[in-house]
Amino acid sequence: MSIKRHKVTVVGAGFVGATCAQRLVEKELADVVLVDVVEGMPQGKALDMMQSSSVEQFDAAIHGTNSYADTKDSDVIVVTAGLARKPGMSRDDLLAKNAEIVGSIITETAKYSPQAILVIVTNPLDVMSYLAWKKSGFKETRVIGMAGVLDSSRYAYFIAEALNVSPKDVRAMVLGGHGDSMVPVPDFSTVNGVPITQLLAKEKIDAINDRTRKGGAEIVGLLKTGSAYYAPSASAAAMAEAILLDSGRILPCCVYLNGQYGIKDTYCGVPVSLGKDGVRRVVELKIAKSDLEALQKSAQDVKANIVKLNL
Ligand code: NAI
Ligand code: 2OP
Repeated sequence: MSIKRHKVTVVGAGFVGATCAQRLVEKELADVVLVDVVEGMPQGKALDMMQSSSVEQFDAAIHGTNSYADTKDSDVIVVTAGLARKPGMSRDDLLAKNAEIVGSIITETAKYSPQAILVIVTNPLDVMSYLAWKKSGFKETRVIGMAGVLDSSRYAYFIAEALNVSPKDVRAMVLGGHGDSMVPVPDFSTVNGVPITQLLAKEKIDAINDRTRKGGAEIVGLLKTGSAYYAPSASAAAMAEAILLDSGRILPCCVYLNGQYGIKDTYCGVPVSLGKDGVRRVVELKIAKSDLEALQKSAQDVKANIVKLNL
């Protein structure tokens, strides 16, 4: 059977990558190529997923491989490959190692799919997004990092939980880098249009903001052997969907800024409209002065790490 679908490559068939691939094929958004360095693993996971297609009722295809030739002419490439921090390894060691991994992946995938949109997931996210942009040689609007969708989704869940409302009615906004200095923005976080500042006490909002900033660490603390992947994979798939459908959805994403929000020559999380060519436009919100300063500080933190790569 052959249906003409978009093609998405997911690099890294670990927890985030494989779950993202599963979400994409189950929604029939694209045929997916799942790549990993480990021989047999992406092939095994792809075959396992295909064997669920009759039960789950999808006919998008998933192909597992160790060869980048199979990724040729992808519309979107989601990069989730990398190492997690191990005992004895500093953040800088991780930065250098993942830069090596992501750099080589970008060279390979960009060669086979020069028209693709790159969605970067590997940590440290903002720095890897900048690196991917530099290595690919792509226009900056075609290299986008995933973090804001995840951080905002965590924020939305905590808001829904605090107010005992459906998460479907919550729209939450987190800006900045994917780290301790990320910036939850209560003024732009609403329940069916009502700002949470009118629904929750300041102390409660402060507590939720703090929990959101530490959202990734909370999951690592519980899992002990790895990090979150259900919400991260859903977030990367949502970005791929907006791109594939050319929907124009406005999502907080890590993008190249050159003057917007007073931030220059770095990647950082802000709301953007996504379409088939990547970032259609950066949305400049009129945020409070304190939030703007926090966003600019977060961008500085990202920049300090980008410098370490000597790109
Ligand atoms: P994982 O360890 O389950 O998967 C990583 C996969 O990458 C492994 O299967 C490994 O074999 C593969 N890999 C390593 N080097 C490779 C190479 N050169 N080429 C192809 N594949 C290679 O890790 P998990 O949980 O899937 O996380 C993946 C990355 O995503 C990590 O860097 C993690 O920190 C990051 N992450 C980022 C989030 C964000 O918000 N941006 C959220 C969650 C995770
Ligand atoms: C997270 O926020 C580890 O960046 C990852 O869950």
